[in-house]
Amino acid sequence: MSARTRIFQVAGVAAVGALSLGLASCSGGAAGSGGDGDLTTVGFVAVGPEGDWRAANEQNIQDTFTEDAGYELKYAPAANLDQKSQIDAFTSFVDEGVDVILLSATEGSGWEDSLERAQEAEIPVILIDRGIEPDDTDLYVTRIAPDNPQVAAGVAEWAAGEFPDGAKYFVLEGPAGVSVVNERNEGWDSVIGDDSSFEKLGAQTANWSTEEGKSVFETVLKSNGNDVQLLFAQNDEMGLGAIQAVEEAGLTPGEDVKIATIDGTKGAMEALAAGELSFVAEYNPLFGETALDAVEKALEGEDVEPYIIVPSETFDSPEAAEAALPDRQY
Ligand code: AHR
Repeated sequence: MSARTRIFQVAGVAAVGALSLGLASCSGGAAGSGGDGDLTTVGFVAVGPEGDWRAANEQNIQDTFTEDAGYELKYAPAANLDQKSQIDAFTSFVDEGVDVILLSATEGSGWEDSLERAQEAEIPVILIDRGIEPDDTDLYVTRIAPDNPQVAAGVAEWAAGEFPDGAKYFVLEGPAGVSVVNERNEGWDSVIGDDSSFEKLGAQTANWSTEEGKSVFETVLKSNGNDVQLLFAQNDEMGLGAIQAVEEAGLTPGEDVKIATIDGTKGAMEALAAGELSFVAEYNPLFGETALDAVEKALEGEDVEPYIIVPSETFDSPEAAEAALPDRQY
């Protein structure tokens, strides 16, 4: 029975304890309207080139915060995913006195000083996708992202149903230190962790990349005599690389080894339709309008929930992928 499941997250109870903001737009006018004709300036401390999910997410933000909408978006991608380049861009935006900062952090930790500086300058910060560690919700207005633990738990629930007698599995992780990696491990382990019928052969980062996903999983298959039934790849690209490793080992992806991924990019949906992937959990990157709404509320001093959860879907069969592909926007 193929299923395309839409997991609607109820935005956190935090709506009750919503953060009240007394911040006003530094441009003096209402956000987005340009107030007295000026544009609202948005400093976007971004990740930059990292894969199809990131490209879709950052393009959607840029397509949303346009001059027609009353914004001047200053896009600052990291240099080679380097956190220092992000902190430098963040500092420049604070010194420049932008009206609001959007932050997609390449590293979860190390942001306290920057966020405190923005707070002193009364510049609201909104986290896009990535969280900070430790998670001090006083240091930012809100985080907008799908629910990583929930999304990963959905993958694990599929795996538990797919392998009622358990399986030997491996995990391909994103880079160490990235918030969503820890959150996805937490979600997966919340379902599979205590199930003794599942044997974890190991976990290793393949840095979100297809090439590394292939090379790491080649080694995993060789070192386990191909006796691996399940792979949890924390993003599509690593899963697509693992498909190549499975095929080059003379095995059939989707049969000998079932691969589940997170993101829901077109390449993964096509692989699911072809039976090469077995499960894809969407991690919807298209939340620019949600971010714009949060910016407007923050600059107007309205309540904003500390965590705005973006709804996700899951796809568990070729039929579900084929049905979804015509409408996919990324
Ligand atoms: O933070 C989201 C993750 O970053 C995506 O799952 C991955 O594809 C991206 O690189």
